Order: sequence, then C-alpha cells, then structure tokens
Amino acid sequence: MQEISDVRYLSRRVAGLKPSGIRKFFDIAATMKDVISLGIGEPDFTTPRPILEAGIRSLQAGETHYTSNSGKLEVRQAVADNLVKLYGVKYDPVNEIILTVGVSEALYLTFTAILDPGDEVIIPTPCFVSYQAEVILAGGVPVEIPSRFEDRFQLDPERIRAAITPKTKAIFVGYPCNPTGAVAERETLQQVAEMAIEHNLLIVSDEIYDRLVYNFQHVCIPSLGDEIKKRTILLGGLSKAYAMTGWRIGYACGPAEIIKGLVRIHQYTIMSAPTTAQDAALEALRNGEPHVQEMVAEYDRRRRLIVEGLNSLGLVTFEPRGAFYAFPRIAASGMDDEVFAEKLLQEEHVAVVPGNAFGLGGEGFVRCSYATAYEKIEEALHRMEKFMTRYG
Ligand SMILES: Cc1ncc(COP(=O)(O)O)c(C=O)c1O
Repeated sequence: MQEISDVRYLSRRVAGLKPSGIRKFFDIAATMKDVISLGIGEPDFTTPRPILEAGIRSLQAGETHYTSNSGKLEVRQAVADNLVKLYGVKYDPVNEIILTVGVSEALYLTFTAILDPGDEVIIPTPCFVSYQAEVILAGGVPVEIPSRFEDRFQLDPERIRAAITPKTKAIFVGYPCNPTGAVAERETLQQVAEMAIEHNLLIVSDEIYDRLVYNFQHVCIPSLGDEIKKRTILLGGLSKAYAMTGWRIGYACGPAEIIKGLVRIHQYTIMSAPTTAQDAALEALRNGEPHVQEMVAEYDRRRRLIVEGLNSLGLVTFEPRGAFYAFPRIAASGMDDEVFAEKLLQEEHVAVVPGNAFGLGGEGFVRCSYATAYEKIEEALHRMEKFMTRYG
C-alpha cells in the first residue's frame, strides 16, 4: 500500500501559493491587548439599518431558496440602473451581469473563464493581494508592473506596453487602489485601453472602491467608449461602499459571451449568491445613496487627519483620493517595511501592513487603513510619534 507521506495532497499550483502577508499581522495582533489596528481592509461601520432590515424582511418572508444562477433579475437590474446613473454605462441585466459572492468570487470566475494555461495577465502593483493568486489558480501567469510614488501610483502605459508578449491575455486595472489610495486619471486609462485594443487584449477592471472617492470623479473604464467596453470585464460590489463585507455580494459585467462563461463556472461552484444578501443589496442599490455619502464624509475627515499626521512625522504620504488607505513611505525610520510593521506592533501596539505584501513597488511603504474611528487614528498617530522619536 502506498504510504500517506508519498501522496502529494496539494496540487503544485496550490502548494506554491504564498500565504497573504496581511493575515500574519492580524494573527500577531490578535495575541496582544490594546492594539489599534490600521491593518483592516473593511469598513468599521455596521451595514446601514434599512439595508439590514431588508435582509431581515427577506428571511421573514421565507426567501430561503436558491435564486437564478446569475442572481435575481431585479437586483441585476438595480446594478445596471446604478451604472447608467453614475457613469452612463449600459449593461443588459439579462445576459451581461452576474451577481457573485463578492468581487473575490468575480475575480475567480473571470480568470478561470478567460485564461488558458500559461496565459499572462499584466497586473500593476502594489495591488490587492488576491489578484496574482487568482491568476495562478486559474493556470495563468501574473506579470507585475510596479507603479511608483513619484508617478502618484498611476499606471505607466509605456511599462505596460513593454510587458506585452504573445501570451498576454489581459491587462488588469484596479482603481481606486488598495493599498495606495490612488485614483486613475482619465487620460492614462484611455492610453492603456487603446493599447488593449491595439493588441487585442481584454481589460479586467476591479472598481470595488468606485464610490469611495474624495473630491474626485471616478472614471469607469467601460465609459471610455464602445470598443473598450466590448473587451472589458467590470467588477464591482457592495462590500465597501455600503459596509456590507459580511453579506458577500459582488458583480461582474461584460459582453454576453464572456458573462455566459462566468455563469457556467458559477453554476457548478456556487449555484447562486446568498438570497438574503441579494435582497439586502437591492435595498442598498435603490436607496442607499444617503448612507454612502454619510460614510464618505466621515472617511474623508479621517483621511485628512491621517495624511497630515503621517507627513508631520516624516512618513511621507501621497494624498490618497480613493478607497480608505494611506500608504506612507517609511524611509525616515531607517527600517524596511517588514521590520517597521513588526516593531511598531510589538513596541507601540499599532498594526499596519508592510507594503511588500501588495507586490512589487510596495517595499518601503506600509498600508494604514483609516476605516477605523477618528479617535483611534488620533491615538495611533500619537503612538507612532513616540516610535518615530526613537527611530526617526
Ligand atoms: C481592491 C479589492 N478588490 C476586491 C476585494 C474583495 O471584496 P469582496 O470580495 O468583499 O467584494 C477587496 C477587499 O479587500 C479589495 O480591496
């Protein structure tokens, strides 16, 4: 009989995946008392009451069954209506939109649907930790293109062009950006989109933070023109703007042929996004705007506090115009980002995430989330001041 130790349990693909650099810091922080976490990537707000109540009503009405694989049509219609209202972008809710279990699932479906083994996806970094992993899980190859502080963490069209090979299948775009807080400028997006047309590539655009922008008008990539829309898979979701991370609702929009592929995978893996959450999402999409505005105003207040505070400590911070992260350069401390985050946690009980967790270009920075109470940010800055007095 074959020994258990001879059996390769995990596929090479899975065994080779790096654990997320974010988790490690949460695990250490969880063992300590009195930690202020600026490490968190989700709203500190509870889901607004009317949205929550829509979920409760749904359960009480006995809405406890599967829905259509693509999700309830009225919710897809509400996603479509919102995209028209916000960006003038039209998708047919019947065959161009699928509701997913967060953008996380939408990423998985998208890459599994479009990639053959060895296909390359160009991914500007630093970026959300799942992109590279999802590409690898789908058998593809992530090609990281670092963006730079000096360029306000914008896409660099020339570096993207230089990375295109005959194996390139898609260019990934993720703005507003986690972890830098950068927003994408229209002209740069236009250049990258034209490059995709020229080289016959797809664009995958994660716009989950589209509503969390500060004195900036978000540019939705498919709004740049029909030719671009035809080759774009737009991903979005309710987790961030409506404080609904635990409900798990996201969506993917794109050409019917591609969405059909996503639905095929989804029907064999997920069946349908959670029904209660779909009903709550409907309330959010139809009537949630005042709550979004209220939360954005509070994030903005915290954003100004943290950016000014970090800069005054010599931790040079680019002004984030989107999402809820500040991304200071920590060179003044004389440490690398990993040591900085570890010492800050051990000595001052403030948790931040080392920038290298977000891919190339993140080294030398740390991510500080301001999705935490104003007073806690004040206290975190106070502790960081003590830290920088010792090391700065
Ligand atoms: C840029 C980005 N995309 C996608 C996600 C996943 O969001 P969800 O699966 O909750 O929709 C996150 C979560 O942190 C994120 O920061």
